[in-house]
Amino acid sequence: MADEGDEWGGHGSDRSASDQVETPNPVARYPNGTDRPDTEDSGMGALDGRVAIITGAGRGIGREHALLFAAEGAKVVVNDLGAALDGSGDDRTPAEQVVDEIRAAGGEAVANSDDVADWDGGKRLVEAAVEAFGDLHVLVNNAGILRDRVIVNMTEEDWDSVIHVHLKGHFVPTRHAAAYWRERSKAGEEVRASIVNTSSTSGLLGNPGQANYGAAKAGIAAFTVIAAQELGRYGVRVNAIAPAARTRMTETTPGLSDIVKAPGDQAQFDVWDPANVSPLVAYLATDGCDLSGRVFFVQGGTVRNFSNWTMTETIDRPARWTVAELAEAMGALDGQARGGQA
Ligand SMILES: NC(=O)c1ccc[n+]([C@@H]2O[C@H](COP(=O)([O-])OP(=O)(O)OC[C@H]3O[C@@H](n4cnc5c(N)ncnc54)[C@H](O)[C@@H]3O)[C@@H](O)[C@H]2O)c1
Repeated sequence: MADEGDEWGGHGSDRSASDQVETPNPVARYPNGTDRPDTEDSGMGALDGRVAIITGAGRGIGREHALLFAAEGAKVVVNDLGAALDGSGDDRTPAEQVVDEIRAAGGEAVANSDDVADWDGGKRLVEAAVEAFGDLHVLVNNAGILRDRVIVNMTEEDWDSVIHVHLKGHFVPTRHAAAYWRERSKAGEEVRASIVNTSSTSGLLGNPGQANYGAAKAGIAAFTVIAAQELGRYGVRVNAIAPAARTRMTETTPGLSDIVKAPGDQAQFDVWDPANVSPLVAYLATDGCDLSGRVFFVQGGTVRNFSNWTMTETIDRPARWTVAELAEAMGALDGQARGGQA
């Protein structure tokens, strides 16, 4: 494996996690006023002492992650470029509003407006966590955009921008965080870090009109598996979620806008509430979780395991097949072992 050099030597490597004074999390309730489950009696949060970066946390699902992480005791870097749904524009305000909400509830957070897909921006993002809070334990890659088109109408820019923000926007912060953790590990510290990536059923199962987005999201699942294999040696776990929730992404998708509406009856469970996604992400981010290389679907009260691409039926012989022979034999590979998907 290529060596990347000691770029993190000067960034907080003189401040170990154990040097930080751990104060009990003052946030006893979620910002929306509901009780914090499980930890309420002990006054401890599931993420006490953890420093987390959450990308795209100014709105939607990422905002819910940031609020829950802070309520569970994490110190949070709220990253958001403030982009429109198609990736255009930049507006710092969403990230700053989330930081204000966290601080008003007694939590700790700082805003960061770097573009996650920009090499130097991703480096600044990791530096922002170390500079503000002295360490980094969790990276949640969540930022994303949409440019839905059928392939015959998709422009080069539609393709490039979606691949750029999602796929490179996962790689860049991961790369800089991994370099930081590798330095800590090489310095003899016990790193217990977690990366949580954001995939989608649009890529893992396929969805017409989202070839760019789905390809990026399937790539993120593959990236997750490989990153878990590479970074485990430094004490870094890597998992991904494929969420489903009501945000501007789903509210503006034809056919979905009605489905994702909140129930009129307040007593009914709102399965599309984006806050339902965050507890799984928080769990994956905890010090005590040992999962790595996994991808989970999450919506409402449902969490489902995804298995990655799996080889099933086989035809095999000790010689090269002819085309005519394959035409005869291929029927044995009918996909039934995977549920018969065409
Ligand atoms: N909503 C769903 O049902 C659903 C389903 C599957 C996957 N996802 C994924 O969940 C994640 C969050 O989506 P959401 O539904 O909350 O959408 P959203 O549009 O509400 O939030 C995405 C946020 O990312 C920010 N962002 C965009 N480009 C950025 C960049 N280059 N750098 C930093 N920030 C940037 C945006 O400003 C926005 O605030 C995305 O990765 C999305 O693809 C969502």
